[in-house]
Amino acid sequence: MLPTNPPKFFGRRKGRVIRCAKSALLEKFLPQIRINKQQIITPSIFSIPVSKIYLEIGFGNGEHLAEQARRHPDIGFIGAEVFQNGIANLLTLITGIKIKDDLTDNIELTTDRVDNIRIFDDDMRLLFSKIPDNSLDKIFLLFPDPWPKKRHENRRFVNPENLKELARCLKSGGILRIATDHKIYKHWTLRQLHDCPYFRWTATCGNDWKHEPTDWVQTKYQRKALREGRRAVFLDYQKI
Ligand SMILES: C[S@@+](CC[C@H](N)C(=O)[O-])C[C@H]1O[C@@H](n2cnc3c(N)ncnc32)[C@H](O)[C@@H]1O
Repeated sequence: MLPTNPPKFFGRRKGRVIRCAKSALLEKFLPQIRINKQQIITPSIFSIPVSKIYLEIGFGNGEHLAEQARRHPDIGFIGAEVFQNGIANLLTLITGIKIKDDLTDNIELTTDRVDNIRIFDDDMRLLFSKIPDNSLDKIFLLFPDPWPKKRHENRRFVNPENLKELARCLKSGGILRIATDHKIYKHWTLRQLHDCPYFRWTATCGNDWKHEPTDWVQTKYQRKALREGRRAVFLDYQKI
């Protein structure tokens, strides 16, 4: 059952007009890999055997999700995103379909299609109740919307309620990775996680959280931040 009062979502669901090929992918391919609101998240939602499940929240244009899934074909990836244009972009990355204006009906998937991703195309908070306790191995929350104004801080995804849910979903020893380039959000996140009893920060030396982790894939927001002179921090927390 869905909550009777779904949480209010403050971000954008749509941007620029979605061109032909991408809109055909949304219409014809997304239903094949979409997680519907009744499904419980277990390894059986993937059409291939998977040894672990990773979740990426707010995957944006999907570069990180697509590349991680390509690198780890034995892991099942769940991506949650509300922004239709971003979802459409992810679909082009995982189907190998090139953007051509004239693509309409015939969607032919290339043989190297990434097949270990399932998508929840709505607010992540609506998915929590479908994820069993201790079932995820890793969660990525990369460059969440910072909502920097004080009066908007209750919109920030990192908050005690969501952290409790993320901890419940993660296996013991599982990792929550948060990246941000925003000064206010960095302090906010460090404070929230410091006060949260379910996680321990894995940073081992003074500076390692200021460098990209070895398995990192750059995202659109990170590149934008770098162009504008902002360096990101990479915060890995382990569920206790
Ligand atoms: C600043 S963008 C970062 C996108 C991407 N992670 C990157 O680094 O390029 C934040 C993304 O999170 C998505 N988002 C925000 N709140 C969300 C929620 N509750 N559920 C799903 N996606 C969400 C937004 O739609 C947006 O695409």
